[in-house]
Amino acid sequence: MKALLCDRYGPPDVLALSDVPRPTPKEDEVLIRVKAVALNSADWRIMNGALRFVGFGLMRPRHRILGADVAGEVVSVGRAVTDLNVGDEVYGDLSEAGFGGLAEYVAAPARLMARKPETLTFEQAAAIPLAGATALQGAQRCGEIRGGQRVAVYGASGGVGTYAVQIARAMGAHVTAAVRAHHRIAAQALGADAVVDSRDFATGQPGERFDVILAVNSDRPLAVFRRALTPTGTVVVMGGGMRHIIEALALGPLLSRPTGHKIRSLYATTTRVDLDALCALIDAGRVAPVIARTFTLDQAVDAFRCFGAGRLFGKVVVSVAEGL
Ligand SMILES: NC(=O)c1ccc[n+]([C@@H]2O[C@H](COP(=O)([O-])OP(=O)(O)OC[C@H]3O[C@@H](n4cnc5c(N)ncnc54)[C@H](OP(=O)(O)O)[C@@H]3O)[C@@H](O)[C@H]2O)c1
Repeated sequence: MKALLCDRYGPPDVLALSDVPRPTPKEDEVLIRVKAVALNSADWRIMNGALRFVGFGLMRPRHRILGADVAGEVVSVGRAVTDLNVGDEVYGDLSEAGFGGLAEYVAAPARLMARKPETLTFEQAAAIPLAGATALQGAQRCGEIRGGQRVAVYGASGGVGTYAVQIARAMGAHVTAAVRAHHRIAAQALGADAVVDSRDFATGQPGERFDVILAVNSDRPLAVFRRALTPTGTVVVMGGGMRHIIEALALGPLLSRPTGHKIRSLYATTTRVDLDALCALIDAGRVAPVIARTFTLDQAVDAFRCFGAGRLFGKVVVSVAEGL
């Protein structure tokens, strides 16, 4: 089968489409004919070596085939799989199971796969799992957003951010999207109640105060977010620069007070419960996957270049056709 291989660390040029053996599913796995894969910053960070010291391979990538968010059709099932059958259309997140989606076939633990809603294309389904689940967990479990609250989503233009804005609105919040200037119109069209330039967020004079700030993609110090909180508000640090993430992990517990600010960090792992909840929101018309660009598997190197160049509103998706 064709697969996009990543055998050394570097820029997208290190990736190459090659022929490799089709995987054989283990007892608890299904073999999926991949139809679409969405890129995440985890793919990018594995490729460029940023994760080499945290278990992803010191000298070369431990996972040769990137791609975690997949959608496709089950073509065979392991002996222990009871809840999926050949022909089922499924989607899910393989970031906890060795990645491998950027290929014609991938073997995936059945427990990580959910049935794809018929109303969604494979591309839309692939664009959901990790970004959608991260946004959902940030809004619900960490942010504990309630109806009527004022919520800011900082870095609202990417995969996670576009879900976070829509989910927070579906939870009844008044949502301010903080995005770079070139994303203002798209953020308004997404349904944000207010849109601000992320560079101007909480700078200068006292401005609006938020009950919850979802810091999705940021390089700003915690002090900036704390300045923009109500006295009992919560900041959820979900992603962004490493310094910003480490600061939240180190200082969050010290700065959090039962009667004051709460600083929470999120490490999301996608579950079927999350996928079902996201699909319910999508079916109800409250949330829609936002796809910035779609590429084919033989254009996957360009997909990574595009992802790395930024200025994207939503997800980058790779469509995988048979018999390339
Ligand atoms: N906590 C978890 O478990 C978890 C799970 C998944 C992802 N993450 C993290 O969450 C973050 C977002 O992921 P993603 O998938 O949404 O990424 P993404 O799709 O690559 O996000 C890119 C978008 O974010 C914008 N952006 C980047 N830096 C920004 C900044 N400093 N200020 C304002 N906007 C900024 C970009 O704007 P431009 O177009 O202008 O460049 C672009 O629109 C990443 O850091 C990722 O590692 C965390």
